[in-house]
Amino acid sequence: MEGALTARDRVGIQDFVLLDETTEEAFINNLKKRFSNDLIYTYIGTLLVSLNPYKELDIYNSKQMDIYMGVNFFELPPHIYALADNAYHTMLTEYNNHFILISGESGAGKTEASKKILQYYAVSCPSTTLLNTVRDKMLMSNPVLEAFGNAKTLKNDNSSRFGKYMDIQFDSQGDAVGGHILNYLLEKSRVVHQNHGERNFHIFYQLVEGAGDELLQQLGLERDCQLYKYLTQGECAIVPSINDKNDWKTVKNALQVVNIDESYNNHLFSIVASVLHLGNLTFSPDSKGLATLRSNSDELQWVSNLLGVDAEKLHEGFTFRKIEAKNDQILSPFTIDHAIYARDALAKAIYGQTFTWLVNRINESMENTDPSRKTVIGLLDIYGFEVFYVNSFEQFCINYCNEKLQQLFIQLTLKAEQEEYEAEGIEWEPVQFFNNKIICDLVEEKHRGIIAILDEECLRPGDATDLTFLERLEDKMANHPHFVTHKLADKMTRKTLERGDFRLLHYAGEVTYCVVGFLDKNNDLLYRNIKDLMCQSKNVIIQKCFSTLDPGNRKRPETVATQFKSSLLKLTEILMAKEAWYIRCLKSNESKQKGQFDEALVRHQVKYLGLMEHLRVRRAGFAYRRKYDIFLQRYKPLCPATWPHWRGDPADGVEVLVQHLGYLPNEYKMGRTKIFIRHPRTLYATEDAFERCKHELATRLQAKYKGYKAKGEFRKQKEAATKIETCWRGVQARKEREKRAWAVKVIKQFIKGYMTRGQAKTTDNSEYLAFVRQNFLNRLKENLPKTVLDKTTWYSPPPVCSETSEILRKLHYRLLVRKYVRGITPQRKAQLQLKLVASTLFKGKKESYPQSIAQPFVDTRINEQDINPRVIQMIRNEHIKYTVPVIKYDRNGFKPRPRQLILTQTAAYVVDDAKIKQRVLYTSLKGISVSSLTDAIVVFHITCEDPKQKGDLVMQCDYLFEFLTKLSVIANKRDAIHVVQGSIKIEVQAGKENGVDFSIGPEPMVYKGKNGHLMVVSIVCLTELCLKSHRD
Ligand SMILES: Nc1ncnc2c1ncn2[C@@H]1O[C@H](COP(=O)(O)OP(=O)(O)OP(=O)(O)O)[C@@H](O)[C@H]1O
Ligand SMILES: [Mg+2]
Repeated sequence: MEGALTARDRVGIQDFVLLDETTEEAFINNLKKRFSNDLIYTYIGTLLVSLNPYKELDIYNSKQMDIYMGVNFFELPPHIYALADNAYHTMLTEYNNHFILISGESGAGKTEASKKILQYYAVSCPSTTLLNTVRDKMLMSNPVLEAFGNAKTLKNDNSSRFGKYMDIQFDSQGDAVGGHILNYLLEKSRVVHQNHGERNFHIFYQLVEGAGDELLQQLGLERDCQLYKYLTQGECAIVPSINDKNDWKTVKNALQVVNIDESYNNHLFSIVASVLHLGNLTFSPDSKGLATLRSNSDELQWVSNLLGVDAEKLHEGFTFRKIEAKNDQILSPFTIDHAIYARDALAKAIYGQTFTWLVNRINESMENTDPSRKTVIGLLDIYGFEVFYVNSFEQFCINYCNEKLQQLFIQLTLKAEQEEYEAEGIEWEPVQFFNNKIICDLVEEKHRGIIAILDEECLRPGDATDLTFLERLEDKMANHPHFVTHKLADKMTRKTLERGDFRLLHYAGEVTYCVVGFLDKNNDLLYRNIKDLMCQSKNVIIQKCFSTLDPGNRKRPETVATQFKSSLLKLTEILMAKEAWYIRCLKSNESKQKGQFDEALVRHQVKYLGLMEHLRVRRAGFAYRRKYDIFLQRYKPLCPATWPHWRGDPADGVEVLVQHLGYLPNEYKMGRTKIFIRHPRTLYATEDAFERCKHELATRLQAKYKGYKAKGEFRKQKEAATKIETCWRGVQARKEREKRAWAVKVIKQFIKGYMTRGQAKTTDNSEYLAFVRQNFLNRLKENLPKTVLDKTTWYSPPPVCSETSEILRKLHYRLLVRKYVRGITPQRKAQLQLKLVASTLFKGKKESYPQSIAQPFVDTRINEQDINPRVIQMIRNEHIKYTVPVIKYDRNGFKPRPRQLILTQTAAYVVDDAKIKQRVLYTSLKGISVSSLTDAIVVFHITCEDPKQKGDLVMQCDYLFEFLTKLSVIANKRDAIHVVQGSIKIEVQAGKENGVDFSIGPEPMVYKGKNGHLMVVSIVCLTELCLKSHRD
């Protein structure tokens, strides 16, 4: 219910007790609102109101059953399973008996409800193989009883035409161990008469449509319902919503389950068939107007065969009545009406008795023989209040039954309420409601009640009729506030009554009954001779049924109404000893349409089921009560003192809570274990406050939960990180260890290699040597000599590479040379070639030579424009190869004269400005001498045969080596050049000699010596000095 408080705006109120106002309007509106949401169940306290939806709702599956199993009544939305489950659990915990009263109009869903409860128990109760058979029998008793006791009516295609009370017996473990059925007031008149649009009991159609040909033949039947009068009065033998053929199979199977074997089946179906044959018996008047059987005596034969009675006697029974006078028996002939009455009475009697026999058989099969104590849940599926256009004896009985049940309800509910108040220590406040005891008394009171008067009329000798019965009623009930007839009524009311009517003001409303047929129906007479005949029947079922009626007892049997009254009294006793649960079934519309809510019809049922009365009783004191702990548990967030925990007694907690909420003293009462709240509005205010508070709480809880989740997540992440870290460190450490091991191995190898580096290549040193080689090559690569002349830089090799080093060195130098050679120009090449010549001529011979090496040779030393043109003119035929300024020493006196020396292809010219002073043909140049010292004196030794001719030529040239090298090349005089030590002889003229003496002095000088020689002093060459000092 608490859940429902939240959803009340959307789906209406789940418990009518909590309606703000208890008006019929509010009640209907709430029903309607819920119905439009397919919510067919609503509570009035623990009473369940069920509104027939006329469509399959997905709320009866095993999942739903699971949801409701063992759950407190108010925790889930209203459901028939909740009621069934709570009855069951209360029974188990309190170890007492219960019953569930299901009432409502025809077609409101009573039978469906009782089946749903049975199914729920079948699934939810513990089960064993033995128990399963009991369970199956209980479930399967339904199709059998429905086949024989249900029929299509205008209101319901499967209308139960009897009242049914079924006990389910449970042992202390809660196992369903047995069952027992009581049946009430089967509508036997249907066997012989059906209104238009209605059918006889289903079994007749099922037999004709579904039975095998052989069985039909055996029973003398044809497969055509239209042939049987008892099946065709309603003119609707075939109904689309009913499949008789299939139902037949179900019934056959069910009969087996409830232990009705083949031989009994035969007897049973013989009776059913005999009724069909009976219906076809017709009578015609003889000459005196008395009844005789029509010629179709075949039917009579079949009846006699099937019922196992003598055909003659049967015939007699239909046409004569046996009257006993003193010791004599007189046969009094029947009129046709009497004969038909006798026929129909037999049909009704055998069918009614067979139905009772069936119920007994089913009871035997479900009976629990274990003597240990059982607790019981009774299911009462009984007709609700009935008000038709014309109401007869049946409606009278039915409505009387409902008055009795209402009386029971009032007693039980008030008792329960009172007991609860007492138990809780709360003062009982008298409740205003209508007590219908007065009506019950009106009907059932001994000697004065309607039933007593009816019986009296039935028994009275003389010509008692329905109207005399009415008159007697009028006499006896004249002043009763709940009884009216045409005669007794005031003017206004009289207009609404016929003369043969009487009206009862039932608790649920007024019902007008037509007295016609009351006496006959109450008598339900079967003529004695027929009854006796039936006792002799060879059909065991008939025989058994009729012999129990005690034919020896000549006392008149109890009338139907009296029987019904006593069975109701018994039922009331049975129910009074049990705890009650109620289901009130309502029809949503008359046309069996899904989703249609016929307000007038529902209002009518609400009234006739006494739901408003029920609500009023329920609401008389306090609308809501709940155990302290449950109340506190739900609403504790509304008070700081009780939230989040109340440590003390829950009752104190509730007191604190309601004080905090500002409940006024008359709005609630504190019981021993429960709080009682008088008005729903007080509870709603609390619930609304709770609703608001819930959001706040939810946010707080969410935050807490998120925090908790996040912390958990963080802790998990941290743990994961530590794990990963550890693993990673392990991996790293293992790698490091491997690296170290490898390093140790490498170093060891290296050391070994180093130690054995001098030995031949072995496995020990091969790597080391390779390393050394590679190392050497790498270093060598970095430190290679850059120039050809660099002979010092070569990286000194380890012994293992010395050979390679030598090869590489040579290769490298060759490469450098190659590069160098490729890099030099032709001019440079020519220059070097000249330098090479100079080297061969002077290297190691003349002291000044080393200084000259660095001086490059030039093509010529005197520009052409510096040579006198006349000279050029004179030697134009000869190609000038080289010119150089020289100092020529005269042959006589050795006077120095600056001259230009021009070398041509053929001769050397000594030129003084425009004059060619001397021409020395190379052919006549026999030798060239220079000293070994650092001076620059050169002597040309010239062949001199003619004394007039000039002698040898003494010159000083600053570019001595260049000049001599060029000369040697131009004149091809390499061999003619001599480096002389000490002095050079010269021929001054033919035959006249002189000399040039060379010496070393502090400074260079050239002068004529006293001996007439030319004295040449040169300084010591620096390099020479160095070398000398080095040598020293
Ligand atoms: N809970 C339900 N869900 C769906 N349909 C239902 C439900 N209850 C009843 N019905 C429909 O209503 C029809 C009549 O129901 P049911 O036979 O139980 O009525 P009843 O009250 O036993 O009537 P009667 O007094 O004539 O025996 C069912 O055949 C079914 O079609
Ligand atoms: Mg029914």
